Amino acid sequence: MCHVSNTLSRLVLVALCGVSLLVACVAPVPDDGIHISSPDGKIQVTFMLNDGVPYYAVSRSGQDVIKPSRLGFVFKEAEPLNQNLAIVESRLDSFDETWTQPWGEVKEIRNHYNELEIDLEETTGAPRKMTLVFRVYNDGLGFRYELPAQDNLSDFEIMDEETEFALSGSHKAWWIPAYRDNRYEYLYTESPVSFFSIKGFSGVHTPLTMETADGLFLSIHEANLTDYASMTLVGSDDNTLLCDLVPWSDGVKVKASTPHQTPWRTIQIAENAGDLITSYLILNLNEPNKLEDVSWVKPGKYVGIWWGMHIGKYTWNLSDKHGATTENTKRYIDFAAKYGFPGVLVEGWNVGWHGEWTEHGYQFSFTTPYDDFDIEELSAYAAAKGVALIGHHETGAAVMNYEQQLEDAFAFYRDLGINTVKTGYVGWGQGIKRRDDAGNLVGLEWHHGQYMVRHYRKVVETAARYHIMLDVHEPIKDTGIRRTYPNMMTREGARGQEYNAWGGEGNPPEHTTILPFTRNLAGPFDFTPGIFDLFFEKYRPHGRVNTTLAKQLALYVVIYSPLHMAADLPENYEGHPAFQFILDVPVDWQDTKVLHAEIGDYVTIARQDRNSEDWYIGSITDENERTLETPLTFLEAGQKYVAEIYADGADADWESDPLSIDIYEAVVDSDTVLTLRLAPGGGQAIRIHPATGDEVNHIPRIDESANE
Ligand code: NOJ
Ligand code: CA
Repeated sequence: MCHVSNTLSRLVLVALCGVSLLVACVAPVPDDGIHISSPDGKIQVTFMLNDGVPYYAVSRSGQDVIKPSRLGFVFKEAEPLNQNLAIVESRLDSFDETWTQPWGEVKEIRNHYNELEIDLEETTGAPRKMTLVFRVYNDGLGFRYELPAQDNLSDFEIMDEETEFALSGSHKAWWIPAYRDNRYEYLYTESPVSFFSIKGFSGVHTPLTMETADGLFLSIHEANLTDYASMTLVGSDDNTLLCDLVPWSDGVKVKASTPHQTPWRTIQIAENAGDLITSYLILNLNEPNKLEDVSWVKPGKYVGIWWGMHIGKYTWNLSDKHGATTENTKRYIDFAAKYGFPGVLVEGWNVGWHGEWTEHGYQFSFTTPYDDFDIEELSAYAAAKGVALIGHHETGAAVMNYEQQLEDAFAFYRDLGINTVKTGYVGWGQGIKRRDDAGNLVGLEWHHGQYMVRHYRKVVETAARYHIMLDVHEPIKDTGIRRTYPNMMTREGARGQEYNAWGGEGNPPEHTTILPFTRNLAGPFDFTPGIFDLFFEKYRPHGRVNTTLAKQLALYVVIYSPLHMAADLPENYEGHPAFQFILDVPVDWQDTKVLHAEIGDYVTIARQDRNSEDWYIGSITDENERTLETPLTFLEAGQKYVAEIYADGADADWESDPLSIDIYEAVVDSDTVLTLRLAPGGGQAIRIHPATGDEVNHIPRIDESANE
């Protein structure tokens, strides 16, 4: 037995192979609670009971980050588990390992934390037990509830998880609203968090990123969302945010039995916004790879029959403009083979797209191609050229129809050699029909409640059994499960490029300068960059993409995804010198560094290719022009490199002259400070590779590499 002291430093932690042995410590609890610090000592988390009511608090370098905040549950047919509690035992532990991502934004990730586990038990009635686990890292913390198997709590229904986040002020926040028709697909609003307390406001999704008056950056999210409802946040008095779980149609939030544990509630804390991007806390709080051999999981770029539907050149359904015909798909396969893209996505290939498919998702067959799409012939044609089709399962949010076909659907693709599937769940608001075994409608579910969390996971696990990688649109938000299931490659879950195709307001220039600090903190995003024909007047005269051309290139680096699309029509790439950057840019990285970071203004990210010595830089701005000084200190000292620069032209402007681009080379080294000039709504993309000494202008290389 050892006394729990105020600082971890007084504990004896025995390190063994980088992992310490558990040191069991039993209270007496100090009056001011049990404390645990991050390995560097800066972040301190305190757990306390106030008259039997559990609270936690977080400070950093002595400043409040989270003031005392309540913890607990309200159940449907049982007393709440949030009071009359006593500490039975608490344990401190410490962990330090470095693990390798099979693919990712960095290769090696250090998972280094101090852990506090507190076993609680009720002091009245038929006592129930609950364990709280806190893991404190240098870049933030996670905590979760565990409800162990016990006599007095077996099956349970959670009506409310009472986790609070009592902020130290009305921080500036970047948020998207929860409980809306378009799921996560909203423009971010910047406002003080006090806005969330306005009557009738439905709350926000996570990750919720905030900047404090003291200049700290915080992001609240969750990790390892498994068999539970997703957490949204609502405001209350005093800048306290409350966990609000997305309910089932019957109002219950979570249906489970003990033993059960919640996802980790996470708070990332950084001194500058860029450090949020290079925080891997969410991944660290997920379980290691369960799939063992993942040699079949391969990041890659793809093209596809997709943008054409969104701008109106093609249709998904059968028509004289049907996109997914055998002939047209061969054209895309030829293009992919010519330029070395491993994947060709084809949407609209299967029966079910006729009529209002968003309303009639039950019509979809995932094993019946349309008559004008010879999938056997096309798979063989692609394979002969070293390309694979990327499959597509649009469900129209008819989840039960999809689940009934799930095994057949994946077996069908596997047998054709298709190793990547994009799924989709277009359906509005609380509109997912749940039926009983007799087919009667039981309820309408949200995309983000426990029912769908279970469904999305079932699809990941099923796909894994068939050795298929996934790209999920209209997904559940990412909470890092790609660590456990590395076939869960990328997903949507925000407003992507498609919003620029439909002729509406599109995504304003600022949107992509917010995404890296919000949506992308959760994980990879299939944004589908690379539109060159920014006006597509031939197909939709009133549409346009609200960026410069150089910014489209920069997005390949700024927005991380292991599957990135060259989204435009092949004919818009042929002969264009800027296409070289899309051909060169990798999707699997050794390292990532954030060079500039102002949320909603501009961001510059440098990433090192995992398979070469090359570095890539992507820099983007909002509607304002910028000049950003960019030291290349990350390059190896003493080595000369060639920078292939794709910059906004002198007159470039997203509104008036977005296509103006300058492409040129410069010799650089680790002492070089590049001056990046970004046009209004613009960007810059740079490939940096070791110099061989005999460089002439190598940028127009496309014809050299193309094998026609
Ligand atoms: C919405 C997806 O985001 C988009 O990529 C897809 O083309 C359509 N649904 C049709 O499935
Ligand atoms: Ca979508």
